[in-house]
Amino acid sequence: MAKMAASMVDSGEDAFRKIFKFYRRRNPPPDLTGVTDFSGGEPGDRVVPAELDLAAVSDVEASRVGLKPVREWRAFGLQGYPGFIFISNPFLRGCQAFWVRQCLKTYPQKPNICNLDMHMNPSETQDIWGQSAPTLSSPVSAQRKPKTLLEKLRWVTLGYHYNWDSKTYSSSSHTPFPSDLHSLSSRVSAACGFPGFQSEAAILNFYRPDSCLGIHVDESELDHTRPLLSFSFGQSAIFLLGGRRRQDPPTAMYMHSGDVMVMSGQSRLLYHAVPCILPAAAGRSALEAEGPVPDPDPDPDRDLRDGALPEPVSQEDWTVCRRYIQTSRVNVTVRQVLEPGQSLPETRACSPQGTAAAAAADRRSEKRKRSSGSTDSVHTSHT
Ligand code: SIN
Repeated sequence: MAKMAASMVDSGEDAFRKIFKFYRRRNPPPDLTGVTDFSGGEPGDRVVPAELDLAAVSDVEASRVGLKPVREWRAFGLQGYPGFIFISNPFLRGCQAFWVRQCLKTYPQKPNICNLDMHMNPSETQDIWGQSAPTLSSPVSAQRKPKTLLEKLRWVTLGYHYNWDSKTYSSSSHTPFPSDLHSLSSRVSAACGFPGFQSEAAILNFYRPDSCLGIHVDESELDHTRPLLSFSFGQSAIFLLGGRRRQDPPTAMYMHSGDVMVMSGQSRLLYHAVPCILPAAAGRSALEAEGPVPDPDPDPDRDLRDGALPEPVSQEDWTVCRRYIQTSRVNVTVRQVLEPGQSLPETRACSPQGTAAAAAADRRSEKRKRSSGSTDSVHTSHT
């Protein structure tokens, strides 16, 4: 922890909030010298190597979801946080682009639910990518254009759709979980010692340069013996990991593009937050510089399931993704909600087609909470 941040924490009341505010501050900017940076490569201080199950995922299985062989992952733990695992960008070069494209183009599509559904008709949010791509792929003009829908996106939910008001999941608000994201998640969790992980719900948070994520614990899932997985793409962020109580001062760490974080065991239910997004040095994130892998086999009829890498991203799509991540960050958290054999209560009856509309109606008040900018709000807020 930075000296300045540490000195602010007297005993007692809500140490987490004080440190959150310290890193959120713009003027003067906070001292970041004490922020743990796992990308440095070497364990030290409180950073220790984490043990992975090298036999749990074959090299081909890893490469199919864009990951390096597990033996090449740089995985760390943090003293004082048993069950916390940080994997410093385990993606193969060029493969993050596929996941960025999925997060921006595919996952916001219906029947998944997003913040825009709270105040727009389903027909207006049917094609967020299609409505935004022409603007985001045109050269930046001096004249400020209205924000595209993609730039207004703040969250998307997948699988069991999280209800921000009741902080619950329900069997009546569920749509199929994307199989590619499940493959990625099950491989990461197996390598971390959790075989058989079922990806049942995900929340995508979209961060603009001024966004933050309030202090919270992810405890709505019924099975806490399963890990919470987090994947970050685009701009870097400061992540704060606290304790079981708000009085416990958090540890600050960087999250860069491609980093994967696993909260399990005694670290599964810890307070955490994202106080700020960090502009990439010289306006260029590592991912931007990396770009997508060129398609070695541009035959449109080939069976992609047989390929050893994720589907390549077209230059056209990458132009849009690249523009977006020049200033923004996307984080995906994947959760197993239920123990095997368990089921969720049904809170209201609705048809699958009505899921987005019903959820929107259920969550109107979410918008009010978000605009308050409270640090206790669970989803991204903006000042
Ligand atoms: C993050 O954006 O890194 C954290 C997301 C979350 O806690 O839900």
